[in-house]
Amino acid sequence: MNAVGKTSALALLIFIIILVTYGTESTCINENQTTQNSSSPLAEVSTTVYAQMGTKALLCCPAISLTKTIFLVWTITLRGQPPCRISYKTETKEINETNCTDRNITWASTPAQSPDLQINTVDLGHDGLYLCEMSAHNGNFQKKHDLQVTVPPEVTLSRGENSTAVCEAIAGKPAAHIFWIPDGDCKTATEPHSNGTVTVRSTCHWENNNVSAVFCFVSHLTGDQSKSLELNQAKGVNSTLHSLLTILYVKLSILGIILLIIGFVFFQKRNYCRK
Ligand SMILES: *[C@@H]1O[C@H](CO)[C@@H](O)[C@H](O)[C@H]1NC(C)=O
Ligand SMILES: *[C@@H]1O[C@H](CO)[C@@H](O)[C@H](O)[C@H]1NC(C)=O
Ligand SMILES: *[C@@H]1O[C@H](CO)[C@@H](O)[C@H](O)[C@H]1NC(C)=O
Ligand SMILES: *[C@@H]1O[C@H](CO)[C@@H](O)[C@H](O)[C@H]1NC(C)=O
Ligand SMILES: *[C@@H]1O[C@H](CO)[C@@H](O)[C@H](O)[C@H]1NC(C)=O
Ligand SMILES: *[C@@H]1O[C@H](CO)[C@@H](O)[C@H](O)[C@H]1NC(C)=O
Ligand SMILES: *[C@@H]1O[C@H](CO)[C@@H](O)[C@H](O)[C@H]1NC(C)=O
Ligand SMILES: *[C@@H]1O[C@H](CO)[C@@H](O)[C@H](O)[C@H]1NC(C)=O
Ligand SMILES: *[C@@H]1O[C@H](CO)[C@@H](O)[C@H](O)[C@H]1NC(C)=O
Repeated sequence: MNAVGKTSALALLIFIIILVTYGTESTCINENQTTQNSSSPLAEVSTTVYAQMGTKALLCCPAISLTKTIFLVWTITLRGQPPCRISYKTETKEINETNCTDRNITWASTPAQSPDLQINTVDLGHDGLYLCEMSAHNGNFQKKHDLQVTVPPEVTLSRGENSTAVCEAIAGKPAAHIFWIPDGDCKTATEPHSNGTVTVRSTCHWENNNVSAVFCFVSHLTGDQSKSLELNQAKGVNSTLHSLLTILYVKLSILGIILLIIGFVFFQKRNYCRK
């Protein structure tokens, strides 16, 4: 390769690296990668974003330079509340708010630096639509987020009646899925709660008595969890105590047998000596 070839190859490489870096740094956390084509104005697309309860969430506006923006409005529509509207005028740096009461929803920094919105501590009440509209010299742009708050379920696995096992994924959002290994004869029930969370309960029975341990797998957006249970244990008996007693019994029996044998041999020897 000649010098010119090498130089242009290097230039191309640098160009690609710049493109890749630019592409990754402009994404928001919690952002579904299907960001809308921001050069087509006012396309009615809403993207679903998930935010775990208790975490911080960032909601982005269209990727339009603030210097080109004249006016921007956030409209936040939460269940059971009047829509909250936050507007910002670039020229005068003036902010107006209407019907906004949740102090946990703030600007990510200041609107002069970034149009993005931040939820400091995500709560169940933050489920809703978050719309960012921007007016710029070259048109109007918008980005609509359908925010869904997620809650990891609490998983329990316990022994039920008649050698069944009960696995519960308590108060998760959205509802979790429960799988078993090995497969059993299972019944699954879901119980929705008023706060939007759901408890999923799966009760299984295994026909074969040779199933010794079962595994319950809970699959959820916030991460998977699993628990295991020994199935064939004596019911009602404290298992630690039970196994200790078993060991004691076995040891005592062996000791007894050994004593018997020694005694028998000793007795036989004495009998021989007497003869
Ligand atoms: C992203 O959004 C698309 C369409 O709205 C949806 O099908 C997909 O499941 C979403 N992905 C994630 C990771 O949220
Ligand atoms: C975005 O929209 C413009 C105009 O509608 C179109 O020409 C362009 O191909 C689109 N780009 C992408 C990446 O979809
Ligand atoms: C503010 O809330 C009232 C009802 O409480 C509603 O009529 C009004 O439209 C809301 N304002 C905005 C800007 O959404
Ligand atoms: C704020 O409200 C005032 C008076 O209603 C209005 O003149 C101004 O344009 C508004 N500014 C923004 C940024 O919405
Ligand atoms: C913000 O959220 C936290 C946790 O949900 C709550 O304790 C606090 O009161 C909220 N703060 C405001 C100002 O609403
Ligand atoms: C347990 O099994 C017995 C006999 O098979 C049955 O009568 C009883 O209803 C069962 N109990 C439960 C809770 O399924
Ligand atoms: C939702 O409600 C259920 C049932 O009342 C409760 O167990 C759970 O803790 C609640 N979850 C949250 C996040 O408040
Ligand atoms: C349990 O027994 C069935 C037949 O009764 C057999 O097909 C299966 O392989 C056994 N499973 C295990 C884990 O031993
Ligand atoms: C078994 O008994 C011990 C002491 O009596 C107790 O600490 C333990 O919690 C019991 N375990 C079960 C599974 O009941």
